[in-house]
Amino acid sequence: MIYADDIYATIEYLYILLLIANKSPCFSKFCRLIPIFFIIATCTPQGYGKIFTLKEYFLTRFGTEIDQMSTSIAFIGGGNMACSLIGGLLSSSEQTANILVAEPNADQRAQLEQQFDIQATSNNADTLSVDVVVLAVKPQLLQLVCREISKPLVQANRLPLFISIAAGVRSGDINRWLGGEQAIVRCMPNTPSLLRAGATGLYANPQVNDTQKTLAENIMQAVGITLWVNKEDELDAVTAVSGSGPAYFFLLMEAMKKAGVQLGLEAETAEKLVLQTALGAAMMADNSDVDASTLRARVTSKGGTTEQAIKSLQEAGFEQLVENALKAANDRSQTLADELSTDLS
Ligand SMILES: NC(=O)c1ccc[n+]([C@@H]2O[C@H](COP(=O)([O-])OP(=O)(O)OC[C@H]3O[C@@H](n4cnc5c(N)ncnc54)[C@H](OP(=O)(O)O)[C@@H]3O)[C@@H](O)[C@H]2O)c1
Repeated sequence: MIYADDIYATIEYLYILLLIANKSPCFSKFCRLIPIFFIIATCTPQGYGKIFTLKEYFLTRFGTEIDQMSTSIAFIGGGNMACSLIGGLLSSSEQTANILVAEPNADQRAQLEQQFDIQATSNNADTLSVDVVVLAVKPQLLQLVCREISKPLVQANRLPLFISIAAGVRSGDINRWLGGEQAIVRCMPNTPSLLRAGATGLYANPQVNDTQKTLAENIMQAVGITLWVNKEDELDAVTAVSGSGPAYFFLLMEAMKKAGVQLGLEAETAEKLVLQTALGAAMMADNSDVDASTLRARVTSKGGTTEQAIKSLQEAGFEQLVENALKAANDRSQTLADELSTDLS
């Protein structure tokens, strides 16, 4: 397999060889212009003071298409979400097999190496030579990890894309802890991602270019659907809807099972009926051209049983209850983000 890294490196070597070997005055003039071109390219807020390789230059300035097969991805934190993402990436033929994981637990490292046939390291700084670094540690540990890699990041002279899946940690905080001017995509996946049936909201900070956005999208699509938000605050609403959402459905399933048992069903029977009904309703909604309210109207015959149940729910303020619940989740998400943004001394 030919890696894009090799192609970029080959172009760089060829360029140096041509510089040494060239005899043509016309070519020589052209060559003299190239360093000026690169100096201009690096004199930008993101690039100032850094020397770019040709590859980094194209990635950060033009967003040139990168061959997905050659994209190198590293995970910091090799737990549940990282495993799901890696499994999804490896099972998709369009995705890269060029994966590294940094994980402190030796048993977990051995398990990752064995399960996925990938490299694992105990040193987070080892991950910095890749195109994309996925920050997959618990939110409370993210600051520590970012501060730990910020110095090696400067030393490595790299500008990888950072994808954070840590719930509630704002991109501005991650950027500050990493040393500033980093391209960061912040994601809010949900638990069904572990079964590759997730829903992920994504936000890109201004440093992220179009190619990197596509990369982030492709990576997160390994565990489900992805949707971009324009403002980072909207991720609090994503948290309220899909992040915490599975638990609302579990609560409804729990309540329906309990009510079924009170109506005389065996617990196991009630549970199976509720589960299959939830699955069936989700499949119907997913396969339908019309929205949920039209589907509901279609299964609610006048004077029938469903109409009575819906009426009872609505009279008890069902919609208002849901609105209040999501507002509470949204507010809590903002408070948690505020708490997590405090710099450790
Ligand atoms: N699971 C979900 O459904 C879900 C949904 C949405 C968002 N998320 C987000 O995804 C992130 C990961 O969640 P998870 O469920 O995968 O957690 P997890 O299973 O606990 O994975 C975190 C991994 O990070 C490792 N770790 C701890 N300290 C580290 C360090 N200093 N450097 C590198 N790795 C370190 C942990 O190792 P040890 O076990 O040895 O401590 C663990 O293997 C979280 O930020 C969470 O908010 C998860």
